[in-house]
Amino acid sequence: MTIPPSSPVVLLHAFPLGPAMWQNQVAALAGRKVLTPSFPGFGGRPPGGSSLDDFADAVIADMDAAGIERAVVVGLSMGGYVAFRLHARRPERVAALVLADTKATADDEAARAKRTDQAERARRDGVGWLVDAMVPVLLGATTRAERPNVEKLVRAMIANADPEGVARALLAMRDRPDSTQQLADIRIPVLAIAGDEDQVTPVAGARQIADGVPDGRLVVIPKAGHLSNLEDAKSFNGALMSFLQG
Ligand code: MLT
Repeated sequence: MTIPPSSPVVLLHAFPLGPAMWQNQVAALAGRKVLTPSFPGFGGRPPGGSSLDDFADAVIADMDAAGIERAVVVGLSMGGYVAFRLHARRPERVAALVLADTKATADDEAARAKRTDQAERARRDGVGWLVDAMVPVLLGATTRAERPNVEKLVRAMIANADPEGVARALLAMRDRPDSTQQLADIRIPVLAIAGDEDQVTPVAGARQIADGVPDGRLVVIPKAGHLSNLEDAKSFNGALMSFLQG
């Protein structure tokens, strides 16, 4: 199956960031219709809903409002988890999937317990602590050593996150279903992308996606961590554009 030329592109952001993380991709996609939804509780959108299905429905509502019937859906990390739910609920709205630095599997018990603790802490203490907790895991070692502007941007985005939005997203990610069984039913082109320094969703998760869908391919970006689109925008955009162009 091919991707319709000039198909609209929907870019789904990671946790606990917002659509500003896509600035380099929006520039690269100039000339196409591009939508960068904020999940409830992020990017100035009020918190609402309590599951990733609710987040997927918010994206569908944004697509409806923008007059987008069908799009290539690009999701990074939490955005990828939502992309799986969006495809499960409304497959006819998805022309192709780009699943970046994400995984199909659900959280194990230890990860679920950590999400619960972090959600309680966000509600109690706000998000200041989250900046130092997350930056070292979100960014790869090369970016931390060589790309101070990326770290500055990521720190600012996390510091601006809404505590209730953060808490709800953590609980929604905690309770997300395993999408592994769904992979074989995703009968559209799929590109999995992973930074080879990604500690949150290592390359093996992206490989599982690429191998598990009928029409998958994998691009590994060297010297990039979990936020591969920000850490090496040139390589990420190159992979995205060549996928879109078939
Ligand atoms: C993200 O980048 O969206 C999150 O780190 C994903 C996760 O915590 O599983």
